[in-house]
Amino acid sequence: MEDVPQIGYSEKVMDHFMNPRNVGSVENPDGVGRVGNPVCGDLMEVSIKVEDGILTDVKFKTFGCGSAIATASMVTELAKGKTLDEADKITRQDVADELEGLPPRKMHCSNLAADALHKAIEDYRERHGEGKEKAEEAAAE
Ligand code: FES
Repeated sequence: MEDVPQIGYSEKVMDHFMNPRNVGSVENPDGVGRVGNPVCGDLMEVSIKVEDGILTDVKFKTFGCGSAIATASMVTELAKGKTLDEADKITRQDVADELEGLPPRKMHCSNLAADALHKAIEDYRERHGEGKEKAEEAAAE
C-alpha cells in the first residue's frame, strides 16, 4: 500500500473521532436532516428534539470518514441547549474552529454535519409552522 502522509489531526478531532458524542437517533424526533456529501458521496443524518424552541437533544448517524464523525459529534455538542436560531447559525467554520482545525482537504467533511443540522431545523420548522416564533420568544426571555 502506498504510504499515506499523516495529515495533522488535532487532539480534539482524534478525541471526537474515537469517542463520538450523541451517536444514534433521537426517539420521536421533531426534525430530521439528511445530506450526502457531493465530494465523497458520504451520508449524514441529524435528528433533533425541540422543547420551547430549544434543542434539548441532538443525535447523528453517519456513513462518513473520521473527520465527518468528529465534526458531527462536535456539532451535536454545540447545538444542544441552543435555540433554533442560534443552532441555525452554527457554521462549518465554527465546527472546524471548535475542533482546533481540520486539514484543508478534510474541510468538506465538516459541511456534512452542519448542513444536516440546518436541514433538521428546516424540517422542524416545516412540521411546526410556529417554531420560529417560539425560538424568538425563548431567546427574548
Ligand atoms: S471523506 Fe466523506 S465525509 Fe469525509
